[in-house]
Amino acid sequence: MEEQEVRIIVKSAPLKEWAAEYQLLHKEAIEAASKAYAPYSHFHVGAAVLLANGEVVSGSNQENAAYPSGLCAERVTLFYAGAKYPDVPVRAIAIAAITGGKLVEGISPCGGCRQVMLETEIRAGAPIKIFLCGSDKMRLIDSAASLLPIGFDGSDL
Ligand code: THU
Repeated sequence: MEEQEVRIIVKSAPLKEWAAEYQLLHKEAIEAASKAYAPYSHFHVGAAVLLANGEVVSGSNQENAAYPSGLCAERVTLFYAGAKYPDVPVRAIAIAAITGGKLVEGISPCGGCRQVMLETEIRAGAPIKIFLCGSDKMRLIDSAASLLPIGFDGSDL
């Protein structure tokens, strides 16, 4: 039997140590979370996406009384970016969540959103930086592929 170890590198640094463009993503993700429509879970998620043209787009989770009809913040934002700027690669995404009036320190994207990030990354042709927002620090995963190891993509079809 062969064994394969899959490693994921997560970097972490105080907010002020990140480049200004990433600090802006942190701010935009939190602002987006405050605009979430989450009357059922009360879990307010925001995402901010940095595009290769310098544009930042943001979005939030949108829930529905028919629960599966709702959509996560990351997918709302990535789909919007893809719809509005179909030819502009995504470079980075920041994710923030607020519940009970407090920022969630250990937010991490769900599996479905990782799958969409992977597709977006392949579409971009270069790794997407994924920032997980804490109140005064951010964690970084350097690519969607490392956040979804042994992932399924178009090459499997
Ligand atoms: N949610 C997101 O927006 N992103 C994630 O990565 C995880 C979960 C939303 C979906 C739902 O509206 C609420 O958080 C609770 O699961």
